Amino acid sequence: MEKLIINGGRRLTGEVTIGGAKNAAVAIIPAALLVEGICVIENVPCIDDVTVISKILSELGAKVRLLNKTTLEIDSRHINTFVADSDLVRKMRASYYLMGALLGRFGEAVVSMPGGCNFGSRPIDQHLKGFSCLGARTVENGGNYELHADSLVGGHVFFDVVSVGATMNVMLAAVRAQGITIIENAAKEPHIVDLANFLNSMGANIKGAGTDTIKIKGVETLGGGTYSVIPDYIEAGTYMLMAAGTGGDVLVKNVIPKHLESITAKLKEIGATVTEFDDSVRVSATLPLRSARVKTLPYPGFPTDLQPLITTLLAVSEGTSYVNESVWDNRFQYIDELRRFGAKVNVEASTAVLEGVTKFNGCSAKALDLRAGAAMVMAALMAEGKSEITNLCYIYRGYENLEEKLINIGADIRYINVPDDEMEEAN
Ligand code: EPU
Repeated sequence: MEKLIINGGRRLTGEVTIGGAKNAAVAIIPAALLVEGICVIENVPCIDDVTVISKILSELGAKVRLLNKTTLEIDSRHINTFVADSDLVRKMRASYYLMGALLGRFGEAVVSMPGGCNFGSRPIDQHLKGFSCLGARTVENGGNYELHADSLVGGHVFFDVVSVGATMNVMLAAVRAQGITIIENAAKEPHIVDLANFLNSMGANIKGAGTDTIKIKGVETLGGGTYSVIPDYIEAGTYMLMAAGTGGDVLVKNVIPKHLESITAKLKEIGATVTEFDDSVRVSATLPLRSARVKTLPYPGFPTDLQPLITTLLAVSEGTSYVNESVWDNRFQYIDELRRFGAKVNVEASTAVLEGVTKFNGCSAKALDLRAGAAMVMAALMAEGKSEITNLCYIYRGYENLEEKLINIGADIRYINVPDDEMEEAN
């Protein structure tokens, strides 16, 4: 069994460099299926989700080469299948982008139902509604989505809810459709803009990404080119919150400070010091911090993906804090794990109410999903004594070189892999 062993209670100090954005990369890589040329994609994060989506493209017949640790070359010129139904597809959430990309390329797609982190129902009705506005019919058949369009024609899509995935998926289907697509009530996350910039750099015509109305004029083909993925603002926010939670002083490098504004504002509100530079932010704090109210919202609101981490921080801040989760139905499953460290927290409907405690104590805790896993690591770094974190597969889906980056800023953290039979003997 894989474990992280953390001796907590150390201030994090020094510099950490942020990698490419996971949620941009996992859309841009399948977007390369639309390109009949060679795409070189730089600043790709070294995470398991990127490995999986790259393997799926290879299974589809694309030539995928790692030019160096963070640069991928993808040649999709000779793919000739629109069927993506392997176990790998079922393993990750972002494989739903294969629907938009294959539909855009072939007018047809067969894609297995996606997997991914489990925090309640994760419907894709808005994706399918968008495809249908472009003339595609979807049939669910034996665990697969089968999409077909006699001809893909631009349309007017009005989303009922703001969805990152649906916005990007419809964008993928629309770039090579005939005529103009208008997406209204679009999501505005930085990765939406990044996907649009990638596609535009390959010859697409997308305007308005980053606002709630996106206009896409279909083009016949997309050529190749080189593109660099934006920095991961959720990874950056993770280290900002960890720095504050340990009373540390960390320069978080290779970021776009504008993307971090909701996090910076909340950290300042609770008493941390945040200084913005051109492409870095410095976070320092003296503990204890103050309580706060937080509500997660689509961008530019406070990101749901940092909810488990801000909740962890507020659990040791003075006074009563309230964290309202408004994006996902069931993203407080990790609260029982947080209680193991000594957090005093109750969840009432979609709000966690926290009575700040003075300290956490080390314990054994599980990563229940990617961001909850990062929150457990953070709690362990903040706690007195030794902690063990298990279920690491979730964490490695989305955080590159986590131990290395944390060790560089002073954490006492070590990865071990105990064979399961030795675990049984030990028990
Ligand atoms: N929703 C619908 N119908 C849909 C799509 C979404 O009702 O067809 C609802 C969802 O149930 C949810 C809300 O809309 O309540 C937002 O969902 P969204 O579609 O925006 O989420 P997503 O695209 O599936 C991405 C990220 C998540 C992140 C959310 C919100 C990827 C691969 N995943 O998911 O990231 O939490 O946006 O920002 O981009 C993570 O990185 O840890 C992660 C889970």
